[in-house]
Amino acid sequence: MTSPEHSSRLPGFYNLSLEARRVMLQDQSPLTPDELAALTGEAGLGADQADHMIENVVGAHALPLGIALNFVVNGRQVLVPMAIEEPSVVAGASFMAKLARAGGGFTASTTPPEMIGQMQVLDVPDLQSAQQALLAEKERLLAEASQVDPVLEKLGGGPRDLEVRLIEDSPIGQFLVLHLIYDVRDAMGANAVNTAVERLAPLVESTTGGRVHLRILSNLADRRLARATCSIPLSELAFEDYGGVQVRQGVIEAWAFAAADSYRAATHNKGIMNGVDAVVIATGNDWRAIEAGAHAYAVKDGQYTSLSTWSEDDQGNLVGSLEMPMAVGIVGGATKVHPSARAALKLMGVNTAAELAEIIVSVGLAQNLAALRALATEGIQRGHMSLHARQVAIAAGAEGDQIARLAEQLVDENTVRIDRAEEILNLWKGSK
Ligand code: MEV
Repeated sequence: MTSPEHSSRLPGFYNLSLEARRVMLQDQSPLTPDELAALTGEAGLGADQADHMIENVVGAHALPLGIALNFVVNGRQVLVPMAIEEPSVVAGASFMAKLARAGGGFTASTTPPEMIGQMQVLDVPDLQSAQQALLAEKERLLAEASQVDPVLEKLGGGPRDLEVRLIEDSPIGQFLVLHLIYDVRDAMGANAVNTAVERLAPLVESTTGGRVHLRILSNLADRRLARATCSIPLSELAFEDYGGVQVRQGVIEAWAFAAADSYRAATHNKGIMNGVDAVVIATGNDWRAIEAGAHAYAVKDGQYTSLSTWSEDDQGNLVGSLEMPMAVGIVGGATKVHPSARAALKLMGVNTAAELAEIIVSVGLAQNLAALRALATEGIQRGHMSLHARQVAIAAGAEGDQIARLAEQLVDENTVRIDRAEEILNLWKGSK
C-alpha cells in the first residue's frame, strides 16, 4: 500500500530527463530498485517469461510507459502507470487530475465483482417447463458450480445466482440461455467462470432435456461496474482567454453531442478508453475484454451513447461521472506473471481488484475531460502537435538535442511533416 507520505504531485516531473524521472519515482514510491527496473522495462518481461505466456514466442513487444500524476482517488494519492503509444494522453490525464484535485479528487466505487457465465441450451423439447425446471434446480446447480474453485470459495467468492432467459427470435429459432452469476473476488474471472459453466453443462442437459452448446463468460460484465465522479471548481477551468463558465458550458455541450449521437459517442468513448486501456495494459489485464464490455454497455438502452455524463452543480462546478463495466483482476494471469504489471500494481498500492477498477475509471473520466476541454476550446491539435512533432523529428533522423529543437521549429512553422523535418535537418547539416 502506498504510504500517505507518497504524494502524486511531482512538480517538474515532465521537464526532467528520463534518468532524473526514474530517480524521483524511486524516491516517491514504495518500489524497490528491482521493482522500479521491472516497471521501466529495464528488467521487464523477458522472452523466456513470454515463452510461457503464449505460443510461438519470438520476443516481447514494448510500449511507452508513463506515469500520470496528481490523482487522488477516494482521498488517496496515487501515481498511475499508463502504457500507451499515443502522445498527450498521459499529460491530459495528469492535468485533469490536477483540476479534479482542487475539487477533492475522484470519488469512485464498484459493485460486487460478479461475472456472468452463459450457457446456450438448444433442442429443448418444452421451453417453458425447462425454464421452470432450471429454476427449481437452482440450489443444486449452484452447489455444483461452487465445487469448481475452492480457493475462490474460501476467499468469499463463488456462484451467486442463476438466471434463465428465453431468446425469442434468432436465426436458428427460439432457445434458452442460462446465466451463472459468479463472484470472482480479485480475479478477472474468465477461468473460474468458464470452468464453472463447462462443469454445469451435463446437469443443465439432464434438467432441460436439451443440448448445451456454448459455455462461456460474457464480456458484458454489467453486474461488475465501476463508477467515478469528480467536481471541478469553476476557477480551475479558466485558462488563457477562456473563462470558467465558457469552458464548463463548452464541456457540457460537447458531452451533449455524444449523448445524442452515436457517431460522436464512439469517439467520445474512445477518448475515455485512451485512459482506461493504458492502465489496464500497464497492469497486465485483458484490455479486449474491457473494450468489449465498455462498448456493449454504451448501447445498453438501445442506442450507442456516451459512457460519461457532464453537468453543473448548484455551486456552478463542473461535475463529471463515468460508469462502465470493469472486469480487471490483480491475481492470476499476466497480472502475476508480468514483472512490469506486478510493479505497476504495487506503485498504485492497490490491494483489491475493486481498488484497481476505481483508479481505472477515474483515469477514464480524467481522460474524457482532457479531450472535451481541448475540443471545446482550442481544439486538440495544438496539444498533440508538440509531442507529435518530436516523433516526426525522430523519424526524420534527429538525435539528442536536435529532437526538441527541430520539434519546436516544426510547431512554430505549423508544418509538422517529415519532408519539412528532413529539409531542416539537411539545412543544419549543410551549415555545420
Ligand atoms: C483521440 O485519441 C481521442 C479524442 O478523439 C477523444 C474525443 O474526441 O473525445 C480526442
